[in-house]
Amino acid sequence: MTLALGLVGATGRLGRVIAALAPEEDAAIVSAVARPGSRWLGRDLGDALGQSPCGLIVSEQRSAEVHVVIDVSSPDALTQTLVDCVYERIPLVLGTTGLSDAQHAEIDAAAHEIPIVQAYNLSLGVSLLLGLVEQAVRALGPGFDIEIVEAHHRRKKDAPSGTALALAEAAARGRGLALAGAAQHGRQGLVGERGASEIGIHAVRGGTVVGDHQVLLLGNSERLSLGHQAEDRSVFARGALRAAAWVREQAPGRYTMRQVLGL
Ligand SMILES: NC(=O)c1ccc[n+]([C@@H]2O[C@H](COP(=O)([O-])OP(=O)(O)OC[C@H]3O[C@@H](n4cnc5c(N)ncnc54)[C@H](OP(=O)(O)O)[C@@H]3O)[C@@H](O)[C@H]2O)c1
Repeated sequence: MTLALGLVGATGRLGRVIAALAPEEDAAIVSAVARPGSRWLGRDLGDALGQSPCGLIVSEQRSAEVHVVIDVSSPDALTQTLVDCVYERIPLVLGTTGLSDAQHAEIDAAAHEIPIVQAYNLSLGVSLLLGLVEQAVRALGPGFDIEIVEAHHRRKKDAPSGTALALAEAAARGRGLALAGAAQHGRQGLVGERGASEIGIHAVRGGTVVGDHQVLLLGNSERLSLGHQAEDRSVFARGALRAAAWVREQAPGRYTMRQVLGL
């Protein structure tokens, strides 16, 4: 049966790709939500996609019954999305990045009531990379310094990327560290020698880069580089649609893309 989806952030860069690819994955967008005040409100979603009208009007709130909601919008939308999904018992896929600790606590609370897949990177490749990084850091031991470099397009609003943070978390787990005490966001000035337990995180912004991530493991006389480059947003969109089909069948709880992919 076709999966009926509510899409929050439907007129954004990623939302538009999800909407365009949904039919290929046996899914249909039946509710398209945009930001309050958005120029797309009241207009046909087809206009936002650069296609012919599809009969679905973009609205400020969910406008139809759905099997699953996908939210790829802004942290500002999170509370409204969670309240709506919990109230109506709708499974949720959350791809928005830049969430605060308090917002992660809101997600944890909502996950007692509904199944939620939350991922800062919805691609298959990054889901795999997270496991590889943890494994490599654990195997190589403390003699290898960890530095993470990410690059994104000039319009990205948050930094470092959620994926860079997830990679840093994976590295910290591999090393048995708490990321909060180990993260070193950029360096400037007379910062002194590198601390043995630092995890360096560096954000590059510019052009149209969809998403590059590199984890450098720098040892004595040898270095490893584990990386991923997203070539276009379809990798995230297909991951979101796959997560939506999966989360519909799950019990309440908070899930990762690794669980979706059975990794
Ligand atoms: N998890 C992943 O794999 C992944 C991959 C890529 C991007 N992302 C994240 O997904 C989010 C969207 O990315 P994007 O590149 O598509 O950004 P974008 O082009 O800026 O799109 C954001 C969309 O959300 C809408 N929006 C903003 N505030 C809202 C609100 N309060 N309620 C409802 N809709 C709201 C915007 O509406 P207007 O256009 O009217 O402002 C826009 O349609 C970001 O957090 C980004 O980092 C995640």
